[in-house]
Amino acid sequence: MKNSYIIANWKMNPNTLREAGNLVAGIAKNIRIIKNATVVIAPPSIYLYPLQNKVGKKIKLAAQDCHFESDGAHTGELSPRMLKNAGVAYVILGHSEQRTAGETSAEVNEKIKAVLKVGLIPIVCIGETKRDTEHQYLSFLETQVKETFSGIPLASFSKIFIAYEPLWAIGVEANREATPEESIEMVIFIKRVLADMYTTKVAESIRFLYGGSVHPENAHLFLIHGGVHGLLVGRDSLNLKKFTKIIEITNGLN
Ligand code: 13P
Repeated sequence: MKNSYIIANWKMNPNTLREAGNLVAGIAKNIRIIKNATVVIAPPSIYLYPLQNKVGKKIKLAAQDCHFESDGAHTGELSPRMLKNAGVAYVILGHSEQRTAGETSAEVNEKIKAVLKVGLIPIVCIGETKRDTEHQYLSFLETQVKETFSGIPLASFSKIFIAYEPLWAIGVEANREATPEESIEMVIFIKRVLADMYTTKVAESIRFLYGGSVHPENAHLFLIHGGVHGLLVGRDSLNLKKFTKIIEITNGLN
């Protein structure tokens, strides 16, 4: 049986711990009989500790970011070790909303190394801001991949998830939805860049996710035709009914 990964990126939602707890409890209840999907929830970090008791065995927790240093004078930041101690298993890194706010690929690179060091699993977001007919976005992506993944120990790649998240397909402001064909093309492209940097074996050992306007109507298309092992879901992961549906669809495909 195949296993797929459904990751919920709650971003800066919801506003109360009560809502967060209810949502997690609802998901945990709805997925009791799910066998072929790993469900990961990335809530705002303030909810990580209290949600530990609500997730049960089926749901894993993720953080939405972290700092690359292990401690020190970094106001407002959280270290990978703190997240691990709070029961976190995965960390989303290099999300386009962080990159837009100024995060560089070099910083994402430091964070990947720091997260791997404490035994957490990095979910690294990669994606171009826009598409152009001259295919400049390919060289943009190539540079982003090279800078983000430079100097990572070869054996670590089998632990890493790469989420292909084209900026233009994310959120309510999305220009349009990406197609599964665009997803698989970019997965192949990213693998080719990594195969050139390292080896084909390394590139093939990485697990890929697609993210950007995933909903119950297109989830199966990305899973079947998108060349990915799972999905990174934003808005619809905050809707119990829709998120449950996405998990059920995924489970049914495996
Ligand atoms: P949406 O699903 O809301 O487009 O967000 C995608 C995303 O950014 C997940 O990390």
